[in-house]
Amino acid sequence: MSGKNYSKAVEDIKSTVNIVDVIGSAITLKRSGSGYMGCCPFHKEKTPSFSVSESKGFYHCFGCGEHGDVIKFVEKYYNLDFQSAVEKLCAQYGIIIEETVGPSDKKKEEYYEANKQAARYFYDRLSKSANKGYEYMSGRGLSAKTMQFFGIGYAGEDWTGLVDKLTKNGVRKDVLIELGLAAEKNGRLYDKFRGRVIFPIINVRGKVIGFGGRIIGGGEPKYLNSPESAVYQKKYNLYGLNRSKDAMLREGFGILVEGYMDCVSLYQAGIENVAASCGTALTPEQAKLLKRYAKSVVLCYDSDNAGINAAIRGIDVLREAGIEVKVLNVDDGKDPDEYIKKHGKDSFLDLMRRKAVPGVEYKVAILKRSYDLKDHTQGIKFLQELASIIKRLSPVEADIYIQKYSKEFGISEGALRREVEAASGDKTQDVPVRHAAQPSGSEKSGQPSRTQLNVEHMLIRLIMLKPSYIERIRDYPEAFVSGRGRSVIQSMESFYKNGELDMDALRSELSDEDLLYLDKIEEKIQIGEDMEKSFMDCVSKLERARREARIEEIDAILDMSDTLPEEALDQEYINKLLMEKQQLIIKNKGEN
Ligand code: UTP
Ligand code: MN
Repeated sequence: MSGKNYSKAVEDIKSTVNIVDVIGSAITLKRSGSGYMGCCPFHKEKTPSFSVSESKGFYHCFGCGEHGDVIKFVEKYYNLDFQSAVEKLCAQYGIIIEETVGPSDKKKEEYYEANKQAARYFYDRLSKSANKGYEYMSGRGLSAKTMQFFGIGYAGEDWTGLVDKLTKNGVRKDVLIELGLAAEKNGRLYDKFRGRVIFPIINVRGKVIGFGGRIIGGGEPKYLNSPESAVYQKKYNLYGLNRSKDAMLREGFGILVEGYMDCVSLYQAGIENVAASCGTALTPEQAKLLKRYAKSVVLCYDSDNAGINAAIRGIDVLREAGIEVKVLNVDDGKDPDEYIKKHGKDSFLDLMRRKAVPGVEYKVAILKRSYDLKDHTQGIKFLQELASIIKRLSPVEADIYIQKYSKEFGISEGALRREVEAASGDKTQDVPVRHAAQPSGSEKSGQPSRTQLNVEHMLIRLIMLKPSYIERIRDYPEAFVSGRGRSVIQSMESFYKNGELDMDALRSELSDEDLLYLDKIEEKIQIGEDMEKSFMDCVSKLERARREARIEEIDAILDMSDTLPEEALDQEYINKLLMEKQQLIIKNKGEN
């Protein structure tokens, strides 16, 4: 029941372990100048560009840029997480990892233990005698073997089964409550998970950190998830990865799906390199975790709008983490689970080979759908957005796609290239790409203005009243100017499905601060009779701000063009900008 003092161990490793020893036992190193050289184990090469400095305790590959210290090398080379890498080195070099009795480690151990007991309880209930959970899962095509492999369990309809059992085993009341396994009413504890099949969420170190419980049949919420706790932070975990990481390493790529069932179902069908993001927007932390096992990822989300949007956002998050992304839309069935049940493994693999498209191409295809390219103005808008997608690529990729798309859309390469140069390639945004051409205005001044905040609050309120507004506002990610606002709208997105927003589930997932923000808005913001008008008012304010931002952008480009030598000046392009600016000014005046 205690933790380990890893930071002390790290110090010991750094002071006693020779990096050349460790790396030299994995790859061949030759002395070269003051250091050592070898062929990089992290990318393919024939001439050595991987160098190791004994004195600095550091390696660096001049070919691929990979670098780090001895622990990082062990992590990467043996695909271990940090702690396991430290443990491996310690075991090898006889370093003792001291025990700590730090309160937080102790607390975590207690939580893991409680979760483990809960998982065992749920599993026993599902596997030992006839029950609705087993019936439901086999009805959905899962074998007993799969249920066991994923530790799937059942929470009965009674109110205190788990509480009784775990309390008897000595699990403390506040632990049960904090883990979201129990709640208290009138001084009595009762089980939170009832009448559900239970998916234990297990991290890559094999610890049970939380649960997802699917209601049997209909009811709300469809999935009840453990709250965040000392041992469960959603943004750091992917469901199923504990089971699929080896297959990802073996296959060289991973498949990412939305739901628990998709993951389990694909695995059972023999597609084992699969993990689930569990309905929430993919985070950079999850991408980083994934990258340990997969250099490339196929996003295979639901075929509905929410799925498409999640994929669009996922592409950027994964790319930023250095993962190559493809997207696969299952065209028959609403999600991968349905598809694989209907068509089987081979058909899924075949579909993936034929239909999975590179992330960029997927973004462009989706973007194209929202424009009528026969219409001149829409065509221009489309090209601008296309340009800002391309802008965010590496130079080599950008070049390839400029060639591809200029052919495809019948414009000259030069024009597209100029458009790309002029586009704003904001890398930091985490919003759907068709919004890449974000006006810079809102960000620039730092603090959002009163009007901006007011629009944000109105929109949040409107979405609470009529959830489908969320779809119409996706084109305006800049509407959410405050950190809270962005956080809340993201959570809303993850609970939005088919025109409906499960407010109870949303509230149960929000942080205290986000919840407060939501409550304040509900209390303070009044919407008149005509919701549509309120909504359109917000939209036109946003449109207007966009035009202002574009005017500023054009001014900046014009300014810069003054510094160009005469012969480099493209007068036609300048004129185009001047005209565009003129029209924007007229439009803004007209709407005053
Ligand atoms: P889906 O509604 O697509 O569910 O939500 P699913 O995985 O296909 O489930 P089945 O097939 O109907 O059983 C996708 C994921 O979103 C999360 C869950 O992780 C779910 O697997 N989700 C959904 C929730 O967390 N809560 C909900 O109420 C709904
Ligand atoms: Mn499903």
